[in-house]
Amino acid sequence: MSVLKNLSVPLREESDLVRARHVVRQWATELGFSLVEQTKVVTAASELARNTIIHGGGGAMLMEALEQGARHGLRLTFEDQGQGIPDIEMAMKDGYTTGSGLGLGLGGAKRLSGEFHIESEPGRGTRVVIVRWK
Ligand SMILES: Nc1ncnc2c1ncn2[C@@H]1O[C@H](COP(=O)(O)OP(=O)(O)OP(=O)(O)O)[C@@H](O)[C@H]1O
Ligand SMILES: [Mg+2]
Repeated sequence: MSVLKNLSVPLREESDLVRARHVVRQWATELGFSLVEQTKVVTAASELARNTIIHGGGGAMLMEALEQGARHGLRLTFEDQGQGIPDIEMAMKDGYTTGSGLGLGLGGAKRLSGEFHIESEPGRGTRVVIVRWK
């Protein structure tokens, strides 16, 4: 597997969320994702980016365009050095929130992604990686 290109997008404020959504859509289009696939990955990215900003106190999204044989994919890594998640299993459950949201972001993002990995350490931060292949 090789990384064709990568880009780091800062996630600090609302305007960064708009930019993140825009570049994910752009790369997904370039990689030949269908309109439905584009929308899935943009929606997942939007939820995870929002979590990075709201719960993680800000961070960044690393975008990587992947190639494996004839396959193309998009890997997105959301990282922050915020408060972390004490109980990931609980946080993944639909309806669980420590904020004012619906608690559907993480579960939704997982369902919309082909591969989904999350790691978090209380007091150290959170990293979520999703991959979607074309
Ligand atoms: N990056 C993060 N840092 C710290 N805690 C997080 C992070 N992402 C998620 N969480 C925790 O996991 C919980 C569930 O996240 P999820 O995105 O599913 O719901 P929400 O953000 O609370 O609401 P919604 O996304 O539906 O608006 C959050 O309420 C928060 O406690
Ligand atoms: Mg959320």
